[in-house]
Formats: sequence, structure tokens, C-alpha cells
Amino acid sequence: MDLYTLARPILWTMDPERAHRLAVGLLAHVSRRPRLLATLRRRLATAPDRLAVEAMGLRFPNCVGLAAGLDKDAEAAPALAALGFGFVEVGTVTPRPQPGNPPVRLWRLPAHRALINRMGFNNQGAPALATRLHEARALVPVPIGVNIAKNRDTPAEAAAADYVRCLEIVYPVADFVVINVSSPNTPGLRGLQEAPLLDELLAAVNDARARLAAATAGTERPLLVKVAPDLTAQQLDEVLDVCLRRQVSGIIATNTTVSRPGLRGRAAELPGGLSGAPLFELSNRVVAAIYRRTRGRLPIIGVGGIMSAQDAYAKIKAGASLVQVFTGFVYGGPGFVRTVLEGLDQLLARDGLGRVEQAVGVEADRWPDP
Ligand SMILES: Cc1cc2nc3c(=O)[nH]c(=O)nc-3n(C[C@H](O)[C@H](O)[C@H](O)COP(=O)(O)O)c2cc1C
Repeated sequence: MDLYTLARPILWTMDPERAHRLAVGLLAHVSRRPRLLATLRRRLATAPDRLAVEAMGLRFPNCVGLAAGLDKDAEAAPALAALGFGFVEVGTVTPRPQPGNPPVRLWRLPAHRALINRMGFNNQGAPALATRLHEARALVPVPIGVNIAKNRDTPAEAAAADYVRCLEIVYPVADFVVINVSSPNTPGLRGLQEAPLLDELLAAVNDARARLAAATAGTERPLLVKVAPDLTAQQLDEVLDVCLRRQVSGIIATNTTVSRPGLRGRAAELPGGLSGAPLFELSNRVVAAIYRRTRGRLPIIGVGGIMSAQDAYAKIKAGASLVQVFTGFVYGGPGFVRTVLEGLDQLLARDGLGRVEQAVGVEADRWPDP
């Protein structure tokens, strides 16, 4: 039994948001202790070579990353990397700080191995995040993604300017940037997935990126778009057309769902986005549909309901080149990353695969359209 298995019942008597803040606070504390980080890294952050991935011009030491929303203000990236994550996505940040929705806004559903949240992008703003990442960069030996969006009070017409502003601020400290148009807790945000609006947004962001790249020795950072699991097959096709035309570097699939697959009673009534086990199948369908339509032209980061190594492997076989976890990490604790990495390595060895890349998309045809 590991320490987290012992500590979890205590942590779980606390209000979920307090427990979350405590955990991030602890990781932030560890992040400022280089010797402790080095010890952790030696014990936890060595993954087998076959799990390394080259994608979007970046080298990922392993294919399992942390999803956005856990470390919104980039307080804990060094400790998260030391736990074994192959990449860390911080944010969502908005140009200006904002408090998010009023509490209560996070619920655990242990019977379903799920969470429901309506946080609403509580964050300290892009400048604070950029300063922190700049200071911590040397302590994070894996790619860092920054997830960006608009402020809640920014009207739809001015949304693109908010994303551009965020891009300008985080560009020097991000290895890749994620355009979040899929969180369900900011009114109107998911409307930006509609083809004409997405096209306009990506055009503005691409222009800004070209400008920023020219000003910083010419390197164009990868830009990804994060999509919702609630799009119909046709809506997804339209999103993909725009993404291919605008040459985005990859897709993150998926965010939380506003649907309630398998939930009954009070749990099904809670407001916000559902994550964890009940999201697994829905998000796999989206990953597989994207893979079938793009056949590797667009790397996919698969996220949604990964609670075990088997789940991560299934997501990769559905078409994901890389995967991310959030709810599985909350339930599994700090040892979760290592468990998934070791399990994945064994599954690949069992199937005679020398590299994780050989498994990508091999079962994409198994999943029905979303
Ligand atoms: C409490 C909470 C906060 C989240 N905040 C964000 C966010 O700020 N930006 C974002 O793109 N996704 C956010 N997400 C979604 C996750 O990044 C991920 O896409 C989703 O939870 C599905 O993965 P999972 O089933 O492994 O949790 C959040 C999820 C949770 C549970």
C-alpha cells in the first residue's frame, strides 16, 4: 500500500477544491526544492525508451502528460515533471486574472470514478503564469504546453484579441500552445468551434505566431486546438477542415462533457463538465474519428477517462500519439503516472512492439463515430 492510498481517505474528507489546492500547494513547495526534485526524478521519472515520442517537432521523453486545469497558474510544473509526466500542460489562463465561478464548483463522484467541475477559468492571468514559467523553466526537463482562452467578460467579437494577447505573453515560455475552445463553463466559448468563428480565430492566432516567431529567432511553436467530446460527427468534420486549412500542429481530444453517460440521480443533475471513467468511450470515439479522417497528418493528444495503463493503451490504439490524464491522477495519486508508464511498457512488450508509435491508430476502426 503506498502513502497516497493511506492519505486519500483523509484528503477526501475535505471539500474537493480545498484538497485540490492543498495538493497543488504541496507540489508547488516541492517545485522550489531542487534537491528533493532531483531525488524524486531519479526514483520516478525514468521511462523506458519505447515510450518516447517525437511529434510536432518536439521530443517527449514519454507519451503520458498532465492535462490542463490541474496546474492553472503553473505553480507546480517542476514537481509534476519529477513525478514522471512526459509533458505538462498548464492553464487555462486568460489575459487578465479572474476569480472563476462562485463555489461550490467541484464535485467527486467516487462510485463513477469521475469528477464534475464548473470552475470557470479561475486563474491569476497570463502575465503571472509567464513570469513563473520563466523562473521554473530550467527545472522542467519535459515539454510544457500553455492552454489559453478568453476572459469571461470579453464579448464574442473580441475573443480573438484575447487569444492573441495570451499568445504574445506566453510565447517565450511555452513549448506548445493550446487554443481552448471547448470548456463548458465559460458562456459562449464552445461556440468558437463553429467553422467561421474558428477560422477567424485561427487566422488571427497564426498571424500573431508568425510575427512572434520572426521576432524570436524564427522558431514557430506548435499550436493545438482542444475540442469538446460533445460535437456531432459533422461538426467535428467542419472543425477538422478548418484546422487542416489553417495548418494547426495537432488536436487535443477531448475536454469534459456536458452529457451524463451512465450517471443517475443527484450526480446526473450537477452542473458543469464531467471527466473520468464515464468520459472514456465518448472521447475515444472522437479520437478515432479524427484519426480516421486525418490519418496521421494531425497528431492527436488523447485525453478523457484514462484510469489505467490499459485505458491509455486503448486511447493510443484509437489514434492518439500522446495521452493526458487528470481525473485518473486525482484518484490514483502521485504514483499513478509511474503505474501507467510501467503498464504501458508491459502491454507494448506483450504485443511485440518496440515503440509506442507503432500502436497509434491500429484500432481506430473499432470505434463508432461520435
Ligand atoms: C477540475 C477540472 C478543471 C479543468 N480545467 C480545465 C481547464 O482549465 N482547461 C482545459 O482545457 N481543460 C480543463 N479540464 C479538462 C481536462 O484537461 C481534461 O480534458 C478532462 O478532465 C478529461 O480528462 P480526464 O477524464 O482524464 O480528467 C479540467 C478538468 C477538471 C476535472
